[in-house]
Amino acid sequence: MIGCEELAVNGGPKAKTTPNIPMYPGGLEMGEEEKTQLLEVIDRKYLFRYYGPAEFPSKVSEFEKRFAARMGAKHCLAVTNCTSALINALVAVGVGPGDEVIVNGYTFFASCAAIVAAKAVPVICEIDDSMTMDPEDFKKKITEHTKAIIAVHMRGTPCDMDRITAIAEEHNLKLIEDCAQACGGSYKGRPLGTFGDVGCFSFQYHKIITAGEGGACITNDPVIYDRLMGYHDAAACWRPDRFGEERYRGELFCGVNYRMSELTGAVMLAQLGKLDSLLDSMRANRKRIKEGIRGVSGITFRRLNDEAGDTAVCLMFMLNDRDKIGPFTEALQAEGIDAAGVFNKGIPDWHIYSHWKHVLDRATPTPEGCPYTCPHYKGDAPERYSPDMCPNTLELLSRTVHLDIPAQMTAEDCDMIASGIRKVAAALL
Ligand SMILES: Cc1ncc(COP(=O)(O)O)c(C=O)c1O
Repeated sequence: MIGCEELAVNGGPKAKTTPNIPMYPGGLEMGEEEKTQLLEVIDRKYLFRYYGPAEFPSKVSEFEKRFAARMGAKHCLAVTNCTSALINALVAVGVGPGDEVIVNGYTFFASCAAIVAAKAVPVICEIDDSMTMDPEDFKKKITEHTKAIIAVHMRGTPCDMDRITAIAEEHNLKLIEDCAQACGGSYKGRPLGTFGDVGCFSFQYHKIITAGEGGACITNDPVIYDRLMGYHDAAACWRPDRFGEERYRGELFCGVNYRMSELTGAVMLAQLGKLDSLLDSMRANRKRIKEGIRGVSGITFRRLNDEAGDTAVCLMFMLNDRDKIGPFTEALQAEGIDAAGVFNKGIPDWHIYSHWKHVLDRATPTPEGCPYTCPHYKGDAPERYSPDMCPNTLELLSRTVHLDIPAQMTAEDCDMIASGIRKVAAALL
């Protein structure tokens, strides 16, 4: 009987006896397709997207076309990573000095750092039990200085896009979606990244599809696309006449260099072909585990705004009592299950705002303190920065258990995970 099984942490047999698979969904699928694409780039000596010793079709352009088509967007711009995609998006939609941008308090720190890099002031917003932006708190955090919002589809799951887009529209805010962890996800059948002005993606090695590093912006707006192009390439290589006059006001301004290399574009072309099968596998694995533990008392699954559109990169559930998280996850690990708690005050984690010391302290690379002290900024949001400013976020995360769902897991792996969770829950909850 499950309730009587000796826990592995107390010397009993492990529930999961197979090795744990690391969470590199696309990374673990690197193979012949990537090699073929890469070798073509090397053989052609065509490593820069705009030109080379002889003309060849650009891998980066081809990737952009296919990514835009897969995501249902009119335009895609490939860049160096998602941090640069977010900065690019903020600049392209017109965020700058004097502006506030609202962002989730639970996201990788880069979503917030991008706002400071774009010379605006971050305003940190609560999450709800979906682990994504709480629309009610988003509404409360809007001020006359709010210019934009970054809605992060955190841990692979869509935000409540019905409510978020409605609030953004009502207040005339620019909407940027951070899809770094949710590539290929959707909300009510519509691909993530296409609800707002710009969708931003990461192809860093932990992400669903990857080239080690890489990123992309998608948009349906031709002017925003021009401005994305403009900021991402200081050399203005994209322009029909690189040294010509501005075609319209706001087209030409000083940019940076976030251009994607052909080597990255080649790997991403091969990886994009694997996206849907990776999503299918992760969704099937998570479904199997969830079904195996449905009804277990003492655990509540993270609420999903749209289960069908979730990328299923992880399984998250809450316990009733935060004090049980330590013993519960320790027992799961002893069972051979790679589970962890999400928030522990003492253990820094760049995904939780209370550990964003450099934001809370308003640390800046130069002593003038811009953007917080920028004379264009008339708001007072930074005065309320504190480790406790989003108590619901901390409370929720302190009770949450997280398990990665590698695409490469077998049905047997999933069944052993479910049986281990049942066993530990029966003993400890
Ligand atoms: C939610 C989120 N946003 C942005 C980023 C930044 O992505 P990149 O490492 O490609 O700059 C990450 C990366 O972990 C992320 O998880």
